[in-house]
Amino acid sequence: MPARPRAPRVVMVTGASSGIGEAAARQAARRGDHLVLLARGREALERVALDCDGLGAASTMVAPADISDDAQVEAAVAAALARHLAVDVVIGSAGVVAYGRVDEVPAEVFDQVVATNLLGSVNLARHVLPVLRAQGTGDLVFVGSVIGHIAVPDMAAYVLSKWGVRALVRQLRVDNRDRPGVRIGYVAPGGVDTPIYGQAATYGRAAGRPPFPVTTPERVAARALGVVDGGRGGQVGLANQVIRLGFTAVPWAYDRLVGPLFALAAQDQTVDVTPGPGNVLGSRQEHNRLRGGHGSALLAIGANAVALARRRIKGG
Ligand SMILES: NC(=O)c1ccc[n+]([C@@H]2O[C@H](COP(=O)([O-])OP(=O)(O)OC[C@H]3O[C@@H](n4cnc5c(N)ncnc54)[C@H](OP(=O)(O)O)[C@@H]3O)[C@@H](O)[C@H]2O)c1
Repeated sequence: MPARPRAPRVVMVTGASSGIGEAAARQAARRGDHLVLLARGREALERVALDCDGLGAASTMVAPADISDDAQVEAAVAAALARHLAVDVVIGSAGVVAYGRVDEVPAEVFDQVVATNLLGSVNLARHVLPVLRAQGTGDLVFVGSVIGHIAVPDMAAYVLSKWGVRALVRQLRVDNRDRPGVRIGYVAPGGVDTPIYGQAATYGRAAGRPPFPVTTPERVAARALGVVDGGRGGQVGLANQVIRLGFTAVPWAYDRLVGPLFALAAQDQTVDVTPGPGNVLGSRQEHNRLRGGHGSALLAIGANAVALARRRIKGG
């Protein structure tokens, strides 16, 4: 018997012009959904919209907006509603990274990481949830991070923002229990091969790279969209569970080991750091794309080991 065609949904994706958000947009397009694509840079959004049209989207609409600006998020949600009269699924994937300790990252950059990742998620919830609650149905799924469950060196602003996103998800679930048809989803990836590392603000001792084991943006997007079909969401990958266990069960060992392991597996010791704000303070949409092109994480660990050993021998 042929499968019954599924009704197109209205799917809004933030951070839709790159990485996990772009992968989610493409997957929803293949399913024949209506797409509302949000990020700051319009041209990159239009590139993704064109691709989504080709992949079978019922319609595409770009909504350039800064997620950290409440009025812009309000206008984007209102425009989606004006066009479609409903919003069924919202995937919150917009995010930025800054490397450096609290005392190293300039206040403006630190605050903007929190404003984008955490307050941007709050802005999204503030304007999407009244729509879902009035409909009595719909899904709001946030892309958090394993880093919302642990502490790592050199990522203070990101760690705080992602712990906040996890708290927000739990809070929204409590607050919306009176609407069982409204679901708040959460996925927490580990290392994903996207451009976010090259786009990051960098003020620490080394540039970032996705840590082993690295997964694809498509896999994370499928987990986020899978929540809508009853999937479990949560941690993406077994390694996240191991890291979380170490963080909570043996904090004394975790705190001792995380520094050297992070330098080896989650940073690139082979390139010099050029300090700067990356895409935190404004879009660098010309660098946005589906994949990061980071190559083999195991080879990168080997190259880092050599670079760190050379530095130690030189006394650097
Ligand atoms: N890649 C990983 O290893 C990894 C791991 C765990 C969690 N995550 C999380 O996954 C999410 C997606 O990350 P990604 O790796 O796919 O990153 P990415 O490839 O750099 O994409 C980030 C997207 O967010 C948009 N964006 C950034 N700042 C924004 C703002 N202020 N307002 C609206 N849009 C904004 C970017 O476009 P514009 O710059 O044009 O606005 C882009 O579309 C993030 O929340 C990230 O923290 C990623």
